Amino acid sequence: MSARLAGNVAIVSGGLRGIGRAITERFVGEGAHVVLTDLDSEDSDVVAELRAAHGDKVTYARADVTSEDDWQTLRDMVAGRHGRLDILVNNAGTDLTGAVETIAMEDWRRIMAINVDGVFLGCKTFTPMLAETGARRKGGASIVNVSSIMGIVGYGEVSAYNASKGAVRLFTKGLAIEFATKGMPIRANSLHPGFVRTPLLAAGFKRWVESGAAESEQDLIDAMDAQTPVGRMAEPDEIAGPALFLASEDASYMTGAELVIDGGWTAQ
Ligand SMILES: NC(=O)c1ccc[n+]([C@@H]2O[C@H](COP(=O)([O-])OP(=O)(O)OC[C@H]3O[C@@H](n4cnc5c(N)ncnc54)[C@H](O)[C@@H]3O)[C@@H](O)[C@H]2O)c1
Repeated sequence: MSARLAGNVAIVSGGLRGIGRAITERFVGEGAHVVLTDLDSEDSDVVAELRAAHGDKVTYARADVTSEDDWQTLRDMVAGRHGRLDILVNNAGTDLTGAVETIAMEDWRRIMAINVDGVFLGCKTFTPMLAETGARRKGGASIVNVSSIMGIVGYGEVSAYNASKGAVRLFTKGLAIEFATKGMPIRANSLHPGFVRTPLLAAGFKRWVESGAAESEQDLIDAMDAQTPVGRMAEPDEIAGPALFLASEDASYMTGAELVIDGGWTAQ
């Protein structure tokens, strides 16, 4: 079977760890060149390890998704080196938990800046390049915006994250309609993972325990497993396959859709 992303160039934001890293590995395995962005410095150990593992199949660029300047620098780099962009995965994100009356305005603004502004800026900056490349690709170029099941249903003391991920969900649908009705060859879909074993989730559990909302991190893991119909959380690689599907020409007729990967959590 031929590689599903042969010759494609993809950007994965926040790709050094967790879900973004798993998506990067999968895309490279399917023949893509991945331009991976994150906040770590170019000479960090994690970047050295990435380069050792993938050589010239991956380019690392330090870029903060909240900075329009960083996105524009990235666009100039991708245009100069590759002259195309087939796939944009807006994956970088952060979380915020707590009762609404305890959420500081600066923390609210920070989560919106990363989870919402970051997705907007990525789409805005790369739309012209995606449209140009998309004209040469079945179904067009592909934007995959990483939302969450928390962008579909509410959850106690997760309201700020709910708001940010709900925004990603509807922003994506708006884009899909805008592109399709103007005849622009770009598909835009959102991805909605359930609970995934990543550094982000581990850090969130740690903070919940420190705040006294739970006895231990293991209690939280057990509770999440118990709430999930399949009885366990996902591994990052289990999100990478659905991301590959949306990115590939197999999803050529999909736009404005939301792909839920949650072990049945929102089916309840
Ligand atoms: N882990 C889960 O259970 C889960 C569930 C649903 C959705 N998600 C979403 O999936 C995405 C990835 O989450 P994850 O769990 O892999 O997180 P993670 O923290 O393990 O990895 C996210 C990466 O994004 C980077 N990042 C953070 N802020 C950034 C910024 N301003 N600019 C560039 N990079 C930045 C981090 O350095 C990190 O490498 C997020 O959007 C998250 O909201 C996660």
